[in-house]
Amino acid sequence: MSSICPSVCVTMEMINSSRLISFLLLPIFMFLLFNPNIAQLDNCTERAEYCWNCNDDAGYFTNTSIYNQNLINLLSSFSSDTHNNFGFYNSSLGQNPNDKVNAIALCRGDVVPNECRDCLNETSRRVFENCPNRKEAIIWGERCLVRYSNSSIFFTKQDVPIRLLPSPHASANAQQYKQTLNPLVEHLRINAASGNSSSKFAFGYRKVSDGEDIFALVQCTPDLSERDCSDCLENSTLQIPACCGGKSGGRILKPSCTLRYEKESFYNESTVGGGPQGGTGKRNTSRTVLIIVIPCVIAVILIILGICISFFKTRKPKKKLLTSEEIGSMESLQYDFSTIRAATDYFSESNKLGEGGFGAVYKGRLSDGRYIAVKRLSKISQQGDLEFKNEVILVAKLQHRNLVRLLGFCLENSERLLIYEFVPNASLDNFIFDPINRSHLHWDRRYKIIRDIARGILYLHEDSRLRIIHRDLKPSNILLDAEMNPKISDFGMARIFGVDQTRGNTSRIVGTYGYMSPEYAMHGQFSIKSDVYSFGVLIFEIISGKRNSSFYQSDCDEDLLSYAWKLWKEGAPSALADPTLRDSYSENEVRRCIHLGLLCVQEDPNDRPTMESIVMMLNSYSVTLPVPRQPAFFIPTETDMQMNGLEFDQSESQTMSVSVNEASISEMDPR
Ligand SMILES: *[C@@H]1O[C@H](CO)[C@@H](O)[C@H](O)[C@H]1NC(C)=O
Ligand SMILES: *[C@@H]1O[C@H](CO)[C@@H](O)[C@H](O)[C@H]1NC(C)=O
Ligand SMILES: *[C@@H]1O[C@H](CO)[C@@H](O)[C@H](O)[C@H]1NC(C)=O
Ligand SMILES: *[C@@H]1O[C@H](CO)[C@@H](O)[C@H](O)[C@H]1NC(C)=O
Ligand SMILES: *[C@@H]1O[C@H](CO)[C@@H](O)[C@H](O)[C@H]1NC(C)=O
Ligand SMILES: *[C@@H]1O[C@H](CO)[C@@H](O)[C@H](O)[C@H]1NC(C)=O
Ligand SMILES: *[C@@H]1O[C@H](CO)[C@@H](O)[C@H](O)[C@H]1NC(C)=O
Ligand SMILES: *[C@@H]1O[C@H](CO)[C@@H](O)[C@H](O)[C@H]1NC(C)=O
Ligand SMILES: *[C@@H]1O[C@H](CO)[C@@H](O)[C@H](O)[C@H]1NC(C)=O
Ligand SMILES: *[C@@H]1O[C@H](CO)[C@@H](O)[C@H](O)[C@H]1NC(C)=O
Ligand SMILES: *[C@@H]1O[C@H](CO)[C@@H](O)[C@H](O)[C@H]1NC(C)=O
Repeated sequence: MSSICPSVCVTMEMINSSRLISFLLLPIFMFLLFNPNIAQLDNCTERAEYCWNCNDDAGYFTNTSIYNQNLINLLSSFSSDTHNNFGFYNSSLGQNPNDKVNAIALCRGDVVPNECRDCLNETSRRVFENCPNRKEAIIWGERCLVRYSNSSIFFTKQDVPIRLLPSPHASANAQQYKQTLNPLVEHLRINAASGNSSSKFAFGYRKVSDGEDIFALVQCTPDLSERDCSDCLENSTLQIPACCGGKSGGRILKPSCTLRYEKESFYNESTVGGGPQGGTGKRNTSRTVLIIVIPCVIAVILIILGICISFFKTRKPKKKLLTSEEIGSMESLQYDFSTIRAATDYFSESNKLGEGGFGAVYKGRLSDGRYIAVKRLSKISQQGDLEFKNEVILVAKLQHRNLVRLLGFCLENSERLLIYEFVPNASLDNFIFDPINRSHLHWDRRYKIIRDIARGILYLHEDSRLRIIHRDLKPSNILLDAEMNPKISDFGMARIFGVDQTRGNTSRIVGTYGYMSPEYAMHGQFSIKSDVYSFGVLIFEIISGKRNSSFYQSDCDEDLLSYAWKLWKEGAPSALADPTLRDSYSENEVRRCIHLGLLCVQEDPNDRPTMESIVMMLNSYSVTLPVPRQPAFFIPTETDMQMNGLEFDQSESQTMSVSVNEASISEMDPR
């Protein structure tokens, strides 16, 4: 019976397996990254001098093989190279694919060249000793690492194998230690990532309290891109609590990057020209700015170009056709209508969570106890069933901790349902605009919410496989989970409804008045910069606790933006802050957020920063922000829009009607 019916009720495992399938579709190097079969043979305990990993899966060579000879020659060429001043070695030896060895050696950034050569000599000896006849191995010493493989390892971020070495000593004040460590490491990460192709490392120290300091050093193999380096270190940073929480030091070792911090200095500051790159907090700001900004801008451009090109290449031939794996994942994403009907108790009023731009949302509980949120789409889309499924599958692949996860869909007769994870704490507007609830959101939390939203949007714009323009960012579309982390909802709706999603013109406006950029509201032009505009408005609302539209509706001739601008001109931007924040906020952070908000709402989309730079600006104080100009203060009326031949559908009024553009849905747009 059930084999006839294509609808299947999925379990968590099946969703996971569909994720696995999508992983397999990624390029091979990604596969290597997630290769789970890494031998665990080494003796890597707390203060070990060396940690290593011999990869048995890559196979063995014999003593008499050319591979062996190449390996010996290659590694000794590193330790005898007297011309290399940066301590980074990457080359390969061998013509025949069976004999070709690729190797990388990297000395810690503060190690001087001849010390580096000695380190490489000794470390190479140890890798031969510990991983005899292995075709692939890695060894981390205190001052240098050596890795080699018969496969290509250059220009590729590799996060596994990983070694965690906590210090044996507990920190005197764990809470304060953590609060000092996190910004220090974040700062160093950004600095290291912005290094050049011969050197990517940074170190610095901060005082925790009297008698306790943190000295930290982070380093990537410099062949990585800025993004990869940053991601590698960010992933390491996230391991700190599990590895070394409460300790006064730790080392996190990975093939592509290393992170180490201690309560005593372990590096030699004097051997690095120009002092610590990471800085000790306040020092050498202007230099750091240059160090960060210029390479960042270049790297960002290169990365974006690279991503565009690679996606163009990999996506182009795929068009809209699903592979059999994708059809498989489609099955696993498809829910049975009767299952959902039962879960929501026949879509009962008492389970109704709200009415959004695309239909009503219900809370539901599956028979296995999991809570879900079900969006019952209004029956207006002209899109065919197959297109609908395709889009849902693509959107379901977008996964980020700041996005509400789409678990699946249901398509039966005229019913179209989207099934999401359930996010318990309602939406942001229930908090920031409510006189009582807002007290739950002290400044640190709001600041984190701002940064997390920025990350979520960045993922939609740049990091996912599709470029998604949200087009309706506003507080009611930001949900809060049990820990009050924000999750963006309703992304990809334009896709699911079959509205053209690339940069372009549309004659049908989707969005909410008050959050739309001038060019979108007036001319229907949308781009990632229209989302940036809405993000700017969000920042002001989160800080002030006032709705942009409430300003508008009041007789007061000022809207939130002009008010912010006025305060900014008067030099007192933090007066914008919600009065309940007064005890908790950091004047500096508030000022910086307002500054950023003003940049986001500039009239000319080209003057608005990209999400990439916004995330960077929010993460690092040493990035200087451009001076904002007066933002866009226009008040479009519906008549304005009609004069421009636009029809306006406010998503609040849930009339997202759609003019299906056949061309736009028949081809997947390369990013
Ligand atoms: C493991 O490391 C400890 C301390 O570093 C050392 O005493 C011990 O001999 C090592 N064991 C092996 C098998 O290498
Ligand atoms: C291969 O060489 C290593 C070190 O030179 C030696 O210990 C080992 O016995 C040799 N193996 C064979 C099969 O000759
Ligand atoms: C290490 O140095 C010694 C002496 O300089 C040399 O004989 C040996 O081949 C070197 N080993 C490696 C792996 O480079
Ligand atoms: C590396 O060696 C393994 C085992 O011999 C082999 O399966 C793999 O294809 C080799 N990789 C390359 C790139 O030749
Ligand atoms: C890379 O940066 C280092 C120091 O940060 C500098 O000494 C070196 O000249 C730079 N190399 C290149 C190729 O720009
Ligand atoms: C080694 O890395 C540098 C950049 O860090 C790159 O220019 C060079 O081509 C790499 N060499 C090989 C053999 O990949
Ligand atoms: C870090 O990277 C590894 C390997 O790519 C991945 O399995 C892990 O989930 C990541 N951890 C975090 C906290 O992102
Ligand atoms: C306050 O927050 C709760 C969720 O924690 C929400 O249910 C309630 O509606 C909010 N109150 C107002 C007035 O928005
Ligand atoms: C958020 O949700 C969690 C779990 O549902 C609850 O314990 C917590 O009180 C909520 N927080 C607020 C501020 O409503
Ligand atoms: C969008 O419309 C504007 C004027 O309405 C026009 O100048 C522009 O070329 C159009 N762009 C695209 C991509 O169609
Ligand atoms: C806020 O509302 C005013 C008045 O409606 C409008 O001019 C302005 O564009 C809105 N602000 C934003 C950022 O949308």
